[in-house]
Amino acid sequence: MRGDELRIDLGRLRRDIEALAAIGRDPTGGISRPAWSPAHEEARAWLLGQLRAAELNPRVDPAGNVFGRLGEGTPVVLTGSHIDTVPRGGPLDGALGVLAGVECLRTIAASRIRPPRALEVAAFTDEEGRFYGFFGSRALAGSLDRALAERLTDPNGLALSEAMRRAGFDLARTPEARRDPREIAAYVELHIEQGPWLEAADVPIGIVEGIVGIRRFRLTFVGQPDHAGTTPMDRRRDAFLTAAEYATKSRELVVRGGQGRAVTTIGVVDVWPGVPNIVPERAALLQELRDSDPALLERLATRTLQAARRVARRRGLVLEVTHLMRADPVRMSPRIQAAIEATAAGLGLPTRRMPSGAGHDAQILAAVTDAGMVFIPSQGGRSHRPDEWTDWPAIERGANVLLGTLLHLASGDV
Ligand code: HGY
Ligand code: MN
Ligand code: MN
Repeated sequence: MRGDELRIDLGRLRRDIEALAAIGRDPTGGISRPAWSPAHEEARAWLLGQLRAAELNPRVDPAGNVFGRLGEGTPVVLTGSHIDTVPRGGPLDGALGVLAGVECLRTIAASRIRPPRALEVAAFTDEEGRFYGFFGSRALAGSLDRALAERLTDPNGLALSEAMRRAGFDLARTPEARRDPREIAAYVELHIEQGPWLEAADVPIGIVEGIVGIRRFRLTFVGQPDHAGTTPMDRRRDAFLTAAEYATKSRELVVRGGQGRAVTTIGVVDVWPGVPNIVPERAALLQELRDSDPALLERLATRTLQAARRVARRRGLVLEVTHLMRADPVRMSPRIQAAIEATAAGLGLPTRRMPSGAGHDAQILAAVTDAGMVFIPSQGGRSHRPDEWTDWPAIERGANVLLGTLLHLASGDV
């Protein structure tokens, strides 16, 4: 059978997706597999078992990345994604890319086709950033900020080093996960779009041209505690109200200055002491900004922090700023985009070139190899929620485009 006649086994892929989705599922149907958590480690063990059963040479690196491999030698063609999830996430974000990658390698292994280049599938650690966004792919690319990693905690205050230790890993050894860029010929990732555009345009395959940059930081407004009943309104240094005034100003600033594209989100608000009869002493916001233009992203980050300082100063409070994560906007490789396009055309599938408003490991891999992404539609654009879904025919189309693209890239002729 020729490479372009190979097709994945949807039944086998469906069993894998449904089995993984059962790990970390809560009674309301959401899936919670935060990096290094018991549910995540159960998922890792399950994935290693699948790779072992498929004789795909499973291994785990010191950053917790899981790899499967078909073939010998380097450079390899790499695919993958992540098996960690956001809290109460859906069954496909990350899992689709890992399991479709496993299915592609299994399908090739079962055929008599042995491409000139070896193939690897990866499940990268903590893509979602419970502690450090894109942790595993950064470790592989050698772009981890070790000093930052040593300081990081999750929103409940658990240190990354302790979470790793409980899972059997040592943060100090993560630099050993770095790979020589010459070992990787290309990286291509299958992912749900997590937005509404492919479904609205009724196009089955998205070819990602670029991925947004992200700036994530913690702003802590420090005022003073006072009695909630006896303190006149004009004598208060209320940390929560100051943070709230900043939050609305920040939104206006991004809507006005973001060229109709930039976005900002404040997803975490912590108030101390956190009782109704004390005027809040401290209020911490976890905020992120995203845009595809590095200069605009930088400008918006500067302006929003200036606005935070102004509001704090006017209300007599102190502002503490902690930078938590930075991922730059990246362009996807034209070579990989062309390989995806040619494969989809060969399958008779229409495609659309498009940006990604979601961050992905591909934007980290892009620093060390030619990287690209294949999108399939998300029903209603829903993602990062329990009802995230894409139907099985769309999943089959995406996995077959990934299969053909991997064979294209592993043939060495692109
Ligand atoms: O946040 C993101 O865009 C991705 O889901 N980690
Ligand atoms: Mn996600
Ligand atoms: Mn993802």
